[in-house]
Amino acid sequence: MADDRRETVIERAEAVMMPTYAPLDILPVKAEGSWITDDAGRRYLDFGSGIAVSALGHGHPAVLDALRRQSELIWHLSNVFTNEPALSLARRLTELTFADRVFFANSGAEANEAALKLARRHAHDRHGPDKHKIVALNEAFHGRTLFTVSVGGKPSYSAGFGPAIEGITHVEREDIEELRSEMDASVCAVILEPVMGEGGVRALSREYLQAARDLCDEADALLIFDEVQIGVGRSGTLFAYEQYEVVPDILTSAKGLGGGFPIGAMLATEEVARSLALGTHGTTYGGNPLACAVAGAVLDEVSRPQLLANVRARSEQLFAGLHEIAPPGMFADVRGLGLLIGLELSGAFAGRAKELQIAALGQGLIVLVAGTDVLRIAPPLNLSAADADAGLSKMAWVCADVVDREGHPC
Ligand SMILES: Cc1ncc(COP(=O)(O)O)c(C=O)c1O
Repeated sequence: MADDRRETVIERAEAVMMPTYAPLDILPVKAEGSWITDDAGRRYLDFGSGIAVSALGHGHPAVLDALRRQSELIWHLSNVFTNEPALSLARRLTELTFADRVFFANSGAEANEAALKLARRHAHDRHGPDKHKIVALNEAFHGRTLFTVSVGGKPSYSAGFGPAIEGITHVEREDIEELRSEMDASVCAVILEPVMGEGGVRALSREYLQAARDLCDEADALLIFDEVQIGVGRSGTLFAYEQYEVVPDILTSAKGLGGGFPIGAMLATEEVARSLALGTHGTTYGGNPLACAVAGAVLDEVSRPQLLANVRARSEQLFAGLHEIAPPGMFADVRGLGLLIGLELSGAFAGRAKELQIAALGQGLIVLVAGTDVLRIAPPLNLSAADADAGLSKMAWVCADVVDREGHPC
């Protein structure tokens, strides 16, 4: 008898995709606002935003309008030309930040690749080739190109891709003395995520960022903030560095900047930017008019005070609610900043983030993980109070169900 069982999503993916990912077993087909619908018509509340990307949820009218308008004008030009959406977006980013100049890329990794190359080139121009050391944090994540994965603080991500890129040192977060001990004359840059996303949703302290700023100044090194995940409103200010009151020399952005359309940006001061002189770096798609038109619309919306106020209000609501619903002993910590929240699992639940993610999906709630111990929540920035409550109810149900089934004392 013929096997007429339909292939699962996972089986279809395993048949034709490179085995790099382990997708969840649903097939999303459309989305609106903070809700995603799968091919069977089931609806899911999106507390993941495509890994902190869909800043304005799905199908935001202003973003759709920008996409439609630009798609009827011109999609792509390459760097042989510049274009109006790219010029406007760069102007807006420089008006809204410390930066004077912008380089557009297509992803977070590419924005960081550009930042790291710029830091080395800038030091090379001023001091020669020996000033090339880059200091980064253990557990940091900066992307998956060979340079960014080497600078990232997870050795397993660069294992087997050698020979390794030289001149990179890792230190432990919040250990100012260890950072100080690495800051010799050969350092060209320190790179930090003000809030470490993949590394467990950990907001660095103001003291640490300020110490990094001071140590960079003393060593004539550049301070790079990777705000690929926490930037563009997610922290409750447009960029997190504003509330830390520590200003970097270079800042990288991506994810939320395009609201779902691929774009990355590297921002720098005039003096630093000069080192990326004609012909030193480039990309075919960077500054693509379609991407820049969409990002321009996203930035207009996200930089509105009401939107940023909503991030702070929903953040308070979620932090308070998560503390309330947490079964005793289930979470060792509820932490993060704005709408990037990490729930660190403890006791009998440690190491089971993926399992809880799947249980949440079963209740119609999409959450992320950050490693095996942390559930990560990153809803759209325009999440409504009602949807925040709906997410908390679903989360409460998932937690209570696991506890009931297993009878943990918690
Ligand atoms: C802080 C940070 N930097 C860089 C990246 C890499 O971005 P992309 O996946 O767009 O290359 C990420 C992605 O998760 C990130 O969180």
